[in-house]
Amino acid sequence: MKAIQYNEHGPAEVMQYIDLPDPVAEPGQIRVGLEAASVTPFDWKLRAGYLKSHFTLPMPSVPGRDGGGTVLSVGNGVTEFKPGDRVAVMARFFAQGGYAEMIAVDAASAVKIPENLSIVEAVALTNASLSAWLSVQTAEVKSGEKVLVHSGAGAVGGLLIQLCHHLGAKVTTTCRSTNRDYVLGLGADHVVAYDEDDFSDTVKDQDVVFDLMGGVVHDKSYKVLTKGGRLAWLVADPINDRGAEFGVTVTRVMVTDDRSALQAMMDLAGAGVIKPQVARTIPLSDAVEAHRLMEKGAISRGRLVLTM
Ligand SMILES: NC(=O)c1ccc[n+]([C@@H]2O[C@H](COP(=O)([O-])OP(=O)(O)OC[C@H]3O[C@@H](n4cnc5c(N)ncnc54)[C@H](OP(=O)(O)O)[C@@H]3O)[C@@H](O)[C@H]2O)c1
Repeated sequence: MKAIQYNEHGPAEVMQYIDLPDPVAEPGQIRVGLEAASVTPFDWKLRAGYLKSHFTLPMPSVPGRDGGGTVLSVGNGVTEFKPGDRVAVMARFFAQGGYAEMIAVDAASAVKIPENLSIVEAVALTNASLSAWLSVQTAEVKSGEKVLVHSGAGAVGGLLIQLCHHLGAKVTTTCRSTNRDYVLGLGADHVVAYDEDDFSDTVKDQDVVFDLMGGVVHDKSYKVLTKGGRLAWLVADPINDRGAEFGVTVTRVMVTDDRSALQAMMDLAGAGVIKPQVARTIPLSDAVEAHRLMEKGAISRGRLVLTM
């Protein structure tokens, strides 16, 4: 099969489009012919070596935290899936990733794709879903609450807007001014364009803030929360926790490969409640270009998806 692999950390060009042996479905696993895989900020930060203090990545590495395609074969003991099923899969951390034409994963890491979604749409939802669903669970968003979602035009932020809107929250979000209509279309009630205004000047009394940015955005988020509010953050860099000073609860969202979270989001998408957002598709062979675009912040309005 064709796959993307790198042998060392470095710029996007360390990734090579190569031939690898086809994977085999071991007992309890399914082998999937992949048609798509998402490109996440984590992928390029890991490749560049920015996360070395968190993880020692075994080399060589095939990147990608998810994928979508059709089951080709099933290992012993698998009864839940059969060849021909359309599935979205979570790639096991440190094992082969989704930037490949095939993958073998534990059946417990896969969910069936609802009929109304294309495989590309399902992939746009897969890895981003885990972050969005687990964030909302962590912050315990309730109907009627005021919620600020930072980075609403991104893949995770866009799903957070949709989920919080679905839960009956009043959603404010931050994005570039050119994405204002886009995030309103996802269900945001109020938008602050970060290239025009400082959200901390006008937004106040929020019950929940989702911080997908860190740094200055994190620091400024405390004052927009009401007393007793909740700040849920999910960024790699450490934050300066000022929860006690402002009387708010600060919680890091622990994102895990939780199939129940993925299943819940697929069910919502199957029911038409959540709409997957595909920013753009790029062929697997152009993964280098995909990473370059991600790194310079040129991808907006959902997930960048590699296609095989
Ligand atoms: N486990 C974890 O800790 C975890 C899990 C998932 C995600 N994350 C982090 O969460 C972040 C978002 O992930 P993602 O997958 O949604 O990324 P993404 O799809 O690449 O989205 C990035 C978005 O950030 C927005 N942005 C840039 N500067 C901004 C600012 N000053 N204020 C508000 N928005 C701004 C951009 O909006 P415009 O397009 O409007 O400019 C862009 O759409 C990443 O940093 C990622 O590393 C962490």
